Amino acid sequence: MVVEEIKAKESHENGIAFPSDKIMLDLKDLKKVYPTPKGDYVVLEHLNLQILKEEFVTIIGHSGCGKTTMLSMIAGLNPISGGNIAVLGNPIKGPGPDRGVIFQSPSLMPWMTALQNVLLGVNRVFPHATKAQRKEIAKYYLHKVGLDGAFYKKANELSQGMQQRVGIARAFAIKPKVLLLDEPFGMLDSLTRGELQDILIEIWNKEKITAVMITHDVDEAIFLADRVVMMTSGPRAKIGDILNIDFERPRTRKAVLEHDDYYKYRKHLIDFLEH
Ligand SMILES: Nc1ncnc2c1ncn2[C@@H]1O[C@H](COP(=O)(O)OP(=O)(O)OP(=O)(O)O)[C@@H](O)[C@H]1O
Ligand SMILES: [Mg+2]
Repeated sequence: MVVEEIKAKESHENGIAFPSDKIMLDLKDLKKVYPTPKGDYVVLEHLNLQILKEEFVTIIGHSGCGKTTMLSMIAGLNPISGGNIAVLGNPIKGPGPDRGVIFQSPSLMPWMTALQNVLLGVNRVFPHATKAQRKEIAKYYLHKVGLDGAFYKKANELSQGMQQRVGIARAFAIKPKVLLLDEPFGMLDSLTRGELQDILIEIWNKEKITAVMITHDVDEAIFLADRVVMMTSGPRAKIGDILNIDFERPRTRKAVLEHDDYYKYRKHLIDFLEH
């Protein structure tokens, strides 16, 4: 990390913002209110968070605190009740191809092939590319997620792990600036989960995009992140704490687990969640 960045991080911890040219996502005094039959429910309030270009941030917090709400607001899929969200300084006005989303279940078109599902996004985002070029992009990302043999298989004939791979390929293929992931590996077995974590990191690193990922898994949060963001419990949830993970990249699970700081990081997160 360059000195400038360390200073920026220190100043951030003292409540001063990062330099604006380094910021990809800026959440300012964000608020979300859901109307309910019993009156308004304030899920998020005074939520401030800045995420840097090319950063990998993981989000943890108790179930129901508002993580999905925050992510879907960044995606532009859920209206903002107060404050604002900017991407590269521009306030968001709804969903856009600059932000790709991967949910826990990939919601593919079941009757379409893996390739057709990825092409749906590619066609929308690259209307001026030739048909062959678009196919090439879709195939490249399906190859990256290990689906060489499944281009022409229908989505409903794929296993859950394979469907999630298609979801990852689809999100990367539209070449977003920001990738938003909501517990993308939550429903997968640990072997598939580990493999897809590695694929995700490899593509994230290569494409130099910004990733924001919600997870319930403290080890996953540490392994993937530059910073782990902890949200307080709702109602009126906000950012409670941020932990910098200073492990070198590329990381291996073995090196991370054997690192002296690993249990210190883990304890920090678990202590936060238990209080
Ligand atoms: N459309 C809605 N209308 C009313 N309340 C909602 C709506 N969506 C979410 N909520 C409430 O807002 C709170 C936050 O929900 P959210 O799904 O964002 O939590 P979460 O942190 O993602 O939880 P989990 O870890 O279980 O996925 C919850 O209390 C939930 O019941
Ligand atoms: Mg959620």
